Amino acid sequence: MPNRPYIVGNWKMNGMRAALSEARAIDRGAARHPGVQVAIAPPDTLISLMAEAVETISLGGQDCHEAGSGAFTGDVSAAMLADVGASFVIVGHSERRAGHAETDAIVRAKAEAATAAGLGVIVCVGETEAQRDAGNAEQVVTMQLEGSLPDEAGTPGQVTVAYEPVWAIGTGRVPSLDDVSAMHRAIRAKLEARYGAPSAGVRILYGGSVNAGNAAELLHCDEVGGALVGGASLTAESFLTIVSAAAPETD
Ligand code: PGA
Repeated sequence: MPNRPYIVGNWKMNGMRAALSEARAIDRGAARHPGVQVAIAPPDTLISLMAEAVETISLGGQDCHEAGSGAFTGDVSAAMLADVGASFVIVGHSERRAGHAETDAIVRAKAEAATAAGLGVIVCVGETEAQRDAGNAEQVVTMQLEGSLPDEAGTPGQVTVAYEPVWAIGTGRVPSLDDVSAMHRAIRAKLEARYGAPSAGVRILYGGSVNAGNAAELLHCDEVGGALVGGASLTAESFLTIVSAAAPETD
């Protein structure tokens, strides 16, 4: 259902088994908002346990290797994520691009591997502060999309783009609402040029310091189809406030 708002929690390298109770609470809260698609990308170590603990929310990985299997110590394939209960995977997060030297070409290969394994994929893009200050934000993001998106849009809702300005991640700073709308419109235009009509099935999430206080206004910006939430997704209390902010009035 790609027209539902999509609220995704990126737990990053946080979460022991004790956090499963938080996931259960998030799941119960999400069940009260059928008009919102809620997901968590926990660390891989928790995916199968969480899959047994929840009923409503979907689960994803935070990264995958581009190969199906083989001698890649420490890596996990898209098929392995699917095997333990993931239905999507995040690729190209700026913490992967910066900390693991992931290029657009690598991100694209991972996105292709994910869709080939039948997973949904969230492709992350976003400019650094220096790039924004230089007036290059839209150009940078457009180039990242050009290099990182998979060839096909897949089934409706299978491909998602997350716009996450690097300088807004974990900093408590967010772009102006006008800047969010302008970037999301530019991403929409790029998706239309790239995929044609199937681009309508691609949602664009905003990510970067989304919290209970700012979610409602960010979610109302042009072409914002949901949010990718880091820190504020770790507790049911704050994450469910964001889910409520995304809910249509009929929920
Ligand atoms: P943040 O992280 O919400 O903690 O800023 C977002 C992300 O990196 O996806």
